[in-house]
Amino acid sequence: DKAQQDALKKAAGIEGAKLVKDGMVVGLGTGSTVRFLVDELGRRTQEEALRFTGVTTSRRTAEQAEGYGIRIVDIDDVNDVDLTIDGADEVDKNFNGIKGGGAALLWEKIVNEASHRNVWIVDESKVVDTIGAFPLPVEVIPFGAKHVLKRLEDKGYKPVLRLDAEGRPVRTDENNLIIDLHMGRIDQPKDLAEDLINMVGVVETGLFLGRVNTVIVGDPNGPRILTK
Ligand code: A5P
Repeated sequence: DKAQQDALKKAAGIEGAKLVKDGMVVGLGTGSTVRFLVDELGRRTQEEALRFTGVTTSRRTAEQAEGYGIRIVDIDDVNDVDLTIDGADEVDKNFNGIKGGGAALLWEKIVNEASHRNVWIVDESKVVDTIGAFPLPVEVIPFGAKHVLKRLEDKGYKPVLRLDAEGRPVRTDENNLIIDLHMGRIDQPKDLAEDLINMVGVVETGLFLGRVNTVIVGDPNGPRILTK
């Protein structure tokens, strides 16, 4: 149930926070698992005088971190990001994953790319044999988005424009739209990523392929650390 899953997310978040040391520049991801990570980093900032600089993958995370007195700077105000800790929606055994359930995939991929080390924190339900059961988010430019949707449909990718609770199209931090692809399973993630990123109007996809080398999995027997 949700309480149990939250406990696993929290355990993964606390384990991930242990990687953060004084003086580091740390990329902070987005989502409910990262929320627990930032809570723990906030606690250490206030109780243990931990001092590090955060760069953010969303406005939501920046607000939460700043509320704890964590120093947040723009990604372009740092030369290097030592470590980025983020959540994921799905991850397979080759560390290919889907992100963007929270619509933050574009900034997340930019921070991932800029980071020397990338770690994901997930609960065990996110670890899968084949990715794709979770709908794959694709960020598109608003101009002409209906035409992009049609082309995705023609390709058989089962696209759905993401709406908020009021039925309005979700806008990302860059004011773009999200189209979720309900593919069921993705057997050739590399080919799909290539096909999507080459479509005019597509800004980025939630396929994160081989972009992390550590995954911390919240498990009822305690956090498991997977590396490759
Ligand atoms: C945000 O856009 C996503 O990439 C999140 O990292 C992902 O959705 C994981 O979120 P949860 O920790 O809430 O499952």
